[in-house]
Amino acid sequence: MDGLRKMERVRTGIDGLDEIIGGGIPKGTVTLISGPPGSGKTIFCYQFLYKGIEEGDKCLFLTLDKKVDGLLIQAQELGFDFQPAIERGQIKFLFLDINKKLIYEVMTNEVLSGEYDRVVLDSITPLSEMPIYMRHAGVTNDINIINPEDFSPGDTFPIRRLHLHYIMNALDTAKCTSLVTSELPSNSTALSRDGISEFLADAVIVLSLDPTMDRRKLSVMKMRSTKHTLRPLDIEIGRGGIRLI
Ligand SMILES: Nc1ncnc2c1ncn2[C@@H]1O[C@H](COP(=O)(O)OP(=O)(O)OP(=O)(O)O)[C@@H](O)[C@H]1O
Ligand SMILES: [Mg+2]
Repeated sequence: MDGLRKMERVRTGIDGLDEIIGGGIPKGTVTLISGPPGSGKTIFCYQFLYKGIEEGDKCLFLTLDKKVDGLLIQAQELGFDFQPAIERGQIKFLFLDINKKLIYEVMTNEVLSGEYDRVVLDSITPLSEMPIYMRHAGVTNDINIINPEDFSPGDTFPIRRLHLHYIMNALDTAKCTSLVTSELPSNSTALSRDGISEFLADAVIVLSLDPTMDRRKLSVMKMRSTKHTLRPLDIEIGRGGIRLI
């Protein structure tokens, strides 16, 4: 128990959340932030990195679906001005182009070479759904090489698992504390769209929406080394990001 109590925690910056997860997310772990469109996944990530900047951490935001300028404007509207930290070199926003073959190499090189304390990957869904390009499993780790004939259609699931494993592994190896977002269809009871990332992640936080009641919720579904409630917590989104109510 002593060991557990001494585990270093990384504050999320979300008021009220850190208190119920023992002070923050366990340092060096990968947390999946899952939820339907508009549930606050990206905002959670801004808040996490903004807190990191306040605490002097070096941060990286890897994005797949939006151009960086748009992200910065959205963040600023919520009260997160990343510009000074970008200029100081304390945070980097990197657009990963899914159409480029070397996407994995760009991502892993950046994650592994940057000495980052906090990393966000927003989101893993396009990556988990892209065709798998790789040579024979076990022969090489080069995931960018195409040879689909090596696999029969029935192999899709193991290959996809390997693919996601590769991404999660890079984050794990870098010893940074990371958030990976995953899109969920509305009303889904799954924890990720691919059905695999939740097993590879050390923690899973699900954000949900109740349009009829005009309510938002946050649930900590899993967090290794942490005692936490499973009860959905009421949240609000506004200036300053997500807040427990
Ligand atoms: N300034 C604001 N004040 C209040 N609510 C806001 C504000 N900015 C955004 N929101 C709410 O947050 C939602 C967007 O949150 P966010 O972009 O984090 O969602 P997401 O889960 O990342 O969605 P997607 O899957 O589409 O990327 C908006 O739909 C809106 O409801
Ligand atoms: Mg988003």
